Amino acid sequence: MSPSVPIVTTVAELRQSIAAARAKCLKIGLVPTMGALHEGHASLVRAAKAECPFVVVSIFVNPAQFGPNEDFAKYPRTLDDDVSLLADCGADLVFAPRSEDVYRPGHGTWVTPAAVADRWEGFLRPGHFRGVATVVLKLLHMAQPDVAYFGQKDFQQAVMLRRMVDDLDVPVTVRLCPTVRQPDGLALSSRNRYLSPAARRRALALWKSLQRAAELVAGGERNAARLDAEIRKVLATADGAQVDYVAIVDPETFEPVEAVSGPTLAALAVRIDGTRLIDNVVLDPNAT
Ligand code: PAF
Repeated sequence: MSPSVPIVTTVAELRQSIAAARAKCLKIGLVPTMGALHEGHASLVRAAKAECPFVVVSIFVNPAQFGPNEDFAKYPRTLDDDVSLLADCGADLVFAPRSEDVYRPGHGTWVTPAAVADRWEGFLRPGHFRGVATVVLKLLHMAQPDVAYFGQKDFQQAVMLRRMVDDLDVPVTVRLCPTVRQPDGLALSSRNRYLSPAARRRALALWKSLQRAAELVAGGERNAARLDAEIRKVLATADGAQVDYVAIVDPETFEPVEAVSGPTLAALAVRIDGTRLIDNVVLDPNAT
């Protein structure tokens, strides 16, 4: 028989389970997700299990982080599959709250994220990071974990959340875990399931373009404008790819850099047949 994992839907139940774990002095890990789980999420749960004996995974498609023309309604909801994946990778509890319990009638308090959220994703998706920051702060208050785990694919989100936790003295450690890729390099994403086989092939241009930038940096290129141009050149090989942005930035502030003089983030967002995909790589001029 496959293993199972308990599911709770209310904050009261969540807190009861967490209090029981705390009574046994167990360190608590939280992996916040929106469901439609894949191996990337599984890797976060495994990272959490490696340091926390009690791991909670939240599954909540947060309406507040979707813009009016975004895919909230069609965002995949696959709770049964999610729960079996979580059972297989050893999660201890699933927290799947109802929207009306997260945003109760009269909800009117929102987190304004720090300036790191203003550019790139934040600029193109107004209100997105405000929704993410608010729901993550709520989840952190609900579960009160010792450690919370986020994926590097959403690098700007993770940096914004680290800043929030520090600025607001939230007693939690934020861990950033590596992006998981398919063997051909495509970063795992819940939105990959929107891609047709042909679109998926074209989507490989994202990682290829970032790898090209990494190769150029390894070969001595330091000029950000030239790296940007090379990334765009590779993206242009994917028919119909629409580039939302290519960012060559300081990985802490997300401010653009002119030259790669230390660890630098190359990040991009591209639409392939209407599906918006993001990816990034850290360019390290000192890597051997
Ligand atoms: O990265 C995500 O899946 C979401 O933005 C998060 C952190 C679960 C908040 O809804």
